[in-house]
Amino acid sequence: MAEEIQKFKVTIDGITIDVDPGTTILNAARQIGGEIVPPAMCYYSKLEGSGGKCRTCLVKVSKGSEKDPRPMPKLVASCRTTVMDGMEVLNITAPEVVEARKAVVEMLLINHPLDCPVCDQAGECKLQDLGYEHGALQQRYEFERRTFERIDIGDKIQLHMNRCILCYRCVFVANQLTEKREHGILNRGDHAEISTFIHQALDHDFIGNVIDVCPVGALTDKTFRFKNRVWFTKPVNAHCNCSKCSGKVTLWYKGTDVIRVTARKDEFDEVEEFICNECRFERKHTDDWVLEEPTKVSDQSVIASNHYEAFNPPAVIKNNPQLKEANVEQLARSEKLK
Ligand code: SF4
Ligand code: FES
Repeated sequence: MAEEIQKFKVTIDGITIDVDPGTTILNAARQIGGEIVPPAMCYYSKLEGSGGKCRTCLVKVSKGSEKDPRPMPKLVASCRTTVMDGMEVLNITAPEVVEARKAVVEMLLINHPLDCPVCDQAGECKLQDLGYEHGALQQRYEFERRTFERIDIGDKIQLHMNRCILCYRCVFVANQLTEKREHGILNRGDHAEISTFIHQALDHDFIGNVIDVCPVGALTDKTFRFKNRVWFTKPVNAHCNCSKCSGKVTLWYKGTDVIRVTARKDEFDEVEEFICNECRFERKHTDDWVLEEPTKVSDQSVIASNHYEAFNPPAVIKNNPQLKEANVEQLARSEKLK
């Protein structure tokens, strides 16, 4: 009989969960769900080796484990730190974590231009969301931002290096989904940049996925660039019988036109299944697809601005009787105020 794996008990922002040994704090928080999940700009569960680059997922370990309850001396990257039995972690309930995240956002914005009004990623950009949640009103950096020429990577993808935060996700996509490594991060420190070897085009059936994993607007779809703001589009799940990939996609409609095709994303904004270039770039007609249902969009997303649905409390509230009660009371109070 298979031996039963002993689970580890971990408490994050007061909510306890049992997880398998080897689970990272970030993934334990994702199993709880809701607002206590730390943001992640570089970690991507489907990309091996990702994480540990951006520091947006910092948390405070206030108790190391049952055996050794000493707190960890510094904030740790939750995507790279595995849980111990009896560990206690603070994320949004620790003022120093919130303060550190603010500093990380300021750091990420040192070189990233604030060109959201013209950036195709606006509305879907993790850095934009972080900026709204944790951004400082003013920046202390006094030097000139790094600037680069835009580079066409093949005929369908454009790299705008000014916006890159060097998260490495696109490098992992190229490494893990294609047969040969064609691009990477060259140089170090302030000189680091994404580059293809002598700007060699990335021509591989699955390379379009670099667009979906890029957390900012550094890698964009040239067939969609400047076509529309994402909040004016209607996403619809669809599938087709594709010989290269699962064929499960999201179609982004403007009126009756499909103006973009992307992979479907989960609640952590990660691609569920990577799709091929043909589905992404070539199948832009409704006739190419079997339509399923409107894509579920988080209430907090700007994409939902025209598509309100009934309020659905986050799991962190639903799973905690005390919070649930407080939330119901709060809703009742706001009902009275109307
Ligand atoms: S181009 Fe995008 S995905 Fe690639 S390293 Fe830069 S920010 Fe990350
Ligand atoms: S998500 Fe953990 S360091 Fe980037």
